[in-house]
Amino acid sequence: MAEGNYLVGVDIGSSSIKLCQLKDIRGKRTLVKFGYYALPPQTIVDGHVQNAPAIVEGLNQLYNQLKIKRREVALAVSGHAVIIKKMALPLMTSAELDEQIDWEAEQQIPYDIKDVQIDYDVLRKRPEQGQMDVLLVAAKKEDVNDAAQIARDAKLKPMVIDVDAFSVQNAFEANYGLPKDGTVALINIGASLTTINILSQGIPSFTRNIINGGNAITEEIQKRLGISWDEAETYKTGIAGGVVDGRSVVPSEVPQIIKQVVEGLSGEILRSLDFYLATSGEKEIGRVFVAGGTANIPEVGAAIERRAKAPVELLDPFKDIAVDLKEVNGDMLNLHRAQVCVAIGLSLRKDKEKV
Ligand SMILES: Nc1ncnc2c1ncn2[C@@H]1O[C@H](COP(=O)(O)OP(=O)(O)OP(=O)(O)O)[C@@H](O)[C@H]1O
Ligand SMILES: [Mg+2]
Repeated sequence: MAEGNYLVGVDIGSSSIKLCQLKDIRGKRTLVKFGYYALPPQTIVDGHVQNAPAIVEGLNQLYNQLKIKRREVALAVSGHAVIIKKMALPLMTSAELDEQIDWEAEQQIPYDIKDVQIDYDVLRKRPEQGQMDVLLVAAKKEDVNDAAQIARDAKLKPMVIDVDAFSVQNAFEANYGLPKDGTVALINIGASLTTINILSQGIPSFTRNIINGGNAITEEIQKRLGISWDEAETYKTGIAGGVVDGRSVVPSEVPQIIKQVVEGLSGEILRSLDFYLATSGEKEIGRVFVAGGTANIPEVGAAIERRAKAPVELLDPFKDIAVDLKEVNGDMLNLHRAQVCVAIGLSLRKDKEKV
């Protein structure tokens, strides 16, 4: 484990804020704080913050309720404008790469280099071919600054800013370890965004953001039944295993609408998986792990499993992380279990690690 103290992991998703804090207790990573705050609709639209005060209010409430002392946080920026690319470059020293990265990035991303913040990581060196694989992450400066400013407005100190797909990977690694061989797809399906990260031999080899998620299902239910957003949301989540205000009566069209929209969404995910298989030389994807609130809908995993011909399971963020049930509300955590992977991944980050 890296030196230092765990930062508080804060995932500002478009539907809700998820907050997690870990502590090592008798040598075991343990969740000691968990908070969930539903954001009002339209707080974040198309990945852009429209209502920063609502987020600041949510952060303040969570901090007060949970009596969290630590103000240093790890944040995730919304992935809509984030670009993640794997590049094969000629072997070079880190000083040379530092110098060249902006130029390389400029070839890969559709934005003006002045407007983006670049981060990169050498994945592996291949001296036999005189090449190395470099992972490039580019986020709009505006989005990174917005996220940091919101945290500061809530009197927090942003120490690390990560992206959703890699936070999920951190949560996965902490619980399952990184498989040395084979291919694993990690798919996080939220409200407005789906991130795909395919690990091959434990190294991210394909990442993609799809601007689609559970909102599309709610919107369709709302439109077809002529009801409010909240009602549509209740019907949708009720169908997936919950209880709707003690009532079990859900309009008979709802399951069919969910099925139709899920078919489209999983079709988009499968196209990415197919693209990966067609271009990577890999024959198959060994296992698929799904996370994010929309992964609660059994039909999502089933549709991927049927067509990707790989076993699909829910990523369990507490497979190897303990939960202190004296501090954490277990029922609330269970209700949002699928949604906490990004926040758990962020909460694994430490203050003294190299970023
Ligand atoms: N039990 C459930 N059944 C069906 N859908 C659910 C369930 N629980 C949550 N969802 C849906 O999951 C979505 C929220 O998931 P999540 O918290 O992962 O997204 P987010 O991080 O807020 O958004 P994003 O990352 O897309 O900006 C919403 O669309 C919500 O309706
Ligand atoms: Mg999210």
